[in-house]
Amino acid sequence: MAFETLIVETNEGVALVRLNRPQALNALNSQLLGELSAALDAAEADPEVGCVVVTGSEKAFAAGADIKEMADKTYAEMFAADFFAKAARRIEQFRKPIIAAVSGYALGGGCELAMLCDFIIASDTAKFGQPEINLGVMPGIGGTQRLTRYVGKSKAMDMMLTGRMMDAAEAERSGLVSRIVAADKLLDEALEAARKIAAQSPLAVMMNKELVNTAYETTLSAGVAVERRLFHSLFAFEDQKEGMAAFVEKRKPAFKGR
Ligand code: HXC
Repeated sequence: MAFETLIVETNEGVALVRLNRPQALNALNSQLLGELSAALDAAEADPEVGCVVVTGSEKAFAAGADIKEMADKTYAEMFAADFFAKAARRIEQFRKPIIAAVSGYALGGGCELAMLCDFIIASDTAKFGQPEINLGVMPGIGGTQRLTRYVGKSKAMDMMLTGRMMDAAEAERSGLVSRIVAADKLLDEALEAARKIAAQSPLAVMMNKELVNTAYETTLSAGVAVERRLFHSLFAFEDQKEGMAAFVEKRKPAFKGR
């Protein structure tokens, strides 16, 4: 599929989606968000894809929503188009894992996009922030809620009210990112993680993802009850038999997704 604002390549079970608006530091405009949704539709439909990696350039993952596109919009236009929420819903409903590989700026909507992914691998140059306050607005793609869940109230308030950026070390310390790697190793590391995921049972992968997300939506006892049901259900799949037989027979499992 050919896009103007993205470059998508699929190899070894991994769809690599590069945001590609270098002239605007990958600012998220309506075209890019529409193309991202279409790329995810294609990745979801493709049985060869077991994991997605979303990345930007070395300088910027994404410097936010496109301020130039938004600046003159009216309330009616924002309400009617609602394109940020459409893209966010597409990502939220995507069932395969998505890794954000972040180098450089992940600001505003860029930070929100990274947080919509399942986990974030950051280069040591990454800078995260929700600077919307400097524009007289606030995050609008879930940032107030997700950043608070990732890093807690004190840091979330600090970031959102002062608009300051967090470097990679602080982001890792705070639990926003899962690991930090040297900038020139970022893509290798993210693709290796993605290939590892893509080689697992896709059924077990989807259930793991679903259950971690359930932790954010429910009580501990209700979440654990859902986990128990799904854990039992895994024994209906051939992949469980294959995974455990392979361990016993000291060989690599060959999962089939059934
Ligand atoms: C549109 C952007 C942009 C953005 C950068 N550019 N960020 N265009 N929207 N968010 C453009 C610049 O205008 C410039 O183009 C080019 O990208 C390079 O940017 P520079 O500013 O010249 O680069 P630099 O000096 O290195 O500074 C990098 C930066 C700065 C610190 C990241 O660009 C910056 O502060 N950007 C805005 C960050 C921000 O406020 N993000 C939040 C957006 S609001 P030209 O052609 O002019 O030279 C948001 C709301 C989300 O995300 C909620 C929506 C529902």
